[in-house]
Amino acid sequence: MADEAIRDVTDDRKRGWHLLGAGAMGCLWAARLKRGGTDVCLLLRNSQALHAYQQCSHVLLQTIEGETLRCPLPAETTASSGRIDRLLLTTKAIDAESALATVEHRLHDNSRIVLLHNGIEVQQEITRRLGGHRVFCLSTSHGAWLRAAFDVCHAGVGASWLGCLQEGQEGMARQLVDELDSAGLDLQYDPDIRLRLWQKLAINCAINGLTVLHDCRNGELLATPERRQQLQELCREIESLYAGIPEAPALTALYERVRGVLQATAENVSSSLQDARRGRPGEWPVLNGPLIRLATRYGLPCPENRALADMLESRPSSHFHGFRHGD
Ligand SMILES: NC(=O)c1ccc[n+]([C@@H]2O[C@H](COP(=O)([O-])OP(=O)(O)OC[C@H]3O[C@@H](n4cnc5c(N)ncnc54)[C@H](OP(=O)(O)O)[C@@H]3O)[C@@H](O)[C@H]2O)c1
Repeated sequence: MADEAIRDVTDDRKRGWHLLGAGAMGCLWAARLKRGGTDVCLLLRNSQALHAYQQCSHVLLQTIEGETLRCPLPAETTASSGRIDRLLLTTKAIDAESALATVEHRLHDNSRIVLLHNGIEVQQEITRRLGGHRVFCLSTSHGAWLRAAFDVCHAGVGASWLGCLQEGQEGMARQLVDELDSAGLDLQYDPDIRLRLWQKLAINCAINGLTVLHDCRNGELLATPERRQQLQELCREIESLYAGIPEAPALTALYERVRGVLQATAENVSSSLQDARRGRPGEWPVLNGPLIRLATRYGLPCPENRALADMLESRPSSHFHGFRHGD
C-alpha cells in the first residue's frame, strides 16, 4: 500500500444503513454507498473484530480504474443496542441465518432487511420467518475480492437487482433501490427476483463445484474435451432437475450460458475455490446441496451432482462432509 495514492472519501449525508458481513461484497457496497453519500455503519461480530477494525477505522476500496479510496466508516458490534432500520446482509449464504440472529433484537416491525447472497434457500427461509414485507433480495453480477481485511478490490463490473420474494412489495422494493442507488452499482428493481436467483443458482451450481474439484480458474473448465463434457453433463442434469422441481423455473441452454460466463470471467478464481484455498467451507454446500435435496424429495435422479459431491467430500481437506443430509 505504501506507494499507492489514496484519496479520502468524506461525504456525509445521513441515511442510516447497517451492513452485516464486512467481507468482499460488504466492503464494496459499504465503501460505494459511503462514496455516494449514504451513511453506513459496519456491524462486526465481536469486540475483537471491532478492535481490529478500529486500528484503521476505514475501508479501502480499489476501484475498477485502479484508484484506491479510503472510506472512513463507523462500526459497532452486532451486540450493540441501537435499533436497525435498514440492514444490508452480505455474509455468505451459509452464515446468513446465524449472523441475522445476532442482530434480531435490534430489528423492529418497520426494519427492512436486504439479503445479498447467492443461492435461494436461505432467502426463502428468512422471508418466511421474518415476513415477506420486511425481507428483500439483492443479486449482483459485480465481482469483488478482499486484498486484506477491510481492503476490497472491485474486480468486475456488472449490474445488480433488488426485489422481493413476496408479491405486492414493489413500492418498498423501489424505495430501497433508490436508497441503495448511491452505491452506483447499477441497481435496478426486479419484479421477478425469484427467477433471477434460481437462474444464478443454476450457473453457480454448474461452475463453482467443478472449479474446486479441478482447482482451476473459471476459463480452465473449458480447457479440455473431458472437462467440457463433464460440464455439459452437469448442465444437462441441472436443466432436467429444474424441469422436475415444481418450485424451480424452466431453464434452457444452460451450457451455452455457462460457457459465456466462463469465457467472460476466464481469469477469475470462483468464490468457492477462493474459500477452499483459504481452508474455508465456502458456499458450494448451499448451492448444489439444496438441489440434491430437492431432487431426493421429488424422486429425481441426479448422478452428476451426487458424483461431484462425492468427489468433493472425499478430498482430504474437505469441508463438505455431510452437507447433503438433514433435509
Ligand atoms: N465476492 C463476489 O464477487 C460476489 C459476487 C456476487 C455474489 N456474491 C455473494 O455475496 C455473498 C457474500 O460474498 P463475499 O464474497 O463478500 O463473502 P466474504 O468475503 O466471505 O464475506 C462475508 C463476510 O461475512 C462475515 N460474517 C460471517 N458471519 C458473520 C457474523 N455472524 N457476524 C459478522 N460478520 C459475519 C465474514 O466475517 P469472517 O471473515 O470473520 O468470517 C466475512 O467478512 C455470498 O453469498 C456470495 O455468493 C459475492
